[in-house]
Amino acid sequence: MAITNKKYNMDPNTEINKPRQSYEQLLKGNRDFVESTISEDPEYFKKLAEGQNPEVLWIGCSDSRVPANQLTGTKPGEVFVHRNIANVCVHTDMNMLSVLDYAVNVLKVKHVIVAGHYGCGGVIAAMGSKQFGVIDNWLRHIKDVYRLHAHELDLISNEQQRADRLVELNVLEQVYNLCKTTIVQNAWREREDLEIHGWVVDIRSGYVKDLKISCKNTDNMAKVFALD
Ligand code: CO
Repeated sequence: MAITNKKYNMDPNTEINKPRQSYEQLLKGNRDFVESTISEDPEYFKKLAEGQNPEVLWIGCSDSRVPANQLTGTKPGEVFVHRNIANVCVHTDMNMLSVLDYAVNVLKVKHVIVAGHYGCGGVIAAMGSKQFGVIDNWLRHIKDVYRLHAHELDLISNEQQRADRLVELNVLEQVYNLCKTTIVQNAWREREDLEIHGWVVDIRSGYVKDLKISCKNTDNMAKVFALD
């Protein structure tokens, strides 16, 4: 069926055309990207199509303001990416586990980065009691992070500072959650070049803060989580 929609055949600047305009802008953006890339390197996409060999897995938030490649100055092919609301890593999430297993065991990435960000709507929502729908069940994991660190968080009276700290603690707990997986622990037994890192993107400045909580073995892990 031919797509005809008369209401869009008008001045592109009218209110009704704005959604259409933003959608078409993406297709134009793609054409511009392809053309400018090819003008610099005519073989670029031919080489890219041959395969990927990224050394990094980025697990970040779905928030539109934290794109992995742009923030890190990396190109297509350099970062394997998984994103969900508030960069949560739970061991019952088959989606996350599949991405992690493929990245660690097939692509053999050397670095897994959990990247949270200040101003994270998911984290802020998890601090409150307002219902948002299905997402409340997902954000429950962050309420658990709050409960684990309530002794520290409850002492911070400024709400933004408390949210910022919860963003950091959420990254910390998600890094630990990755370390608790059989995927990561089995990989550590086989090779020494796999590290799990925790970062926070400061969307107010653009800069990344390395939380310096990188893990490359189970040495500092509570015994109950370290597997034989
Ligand atoms: Co977020």
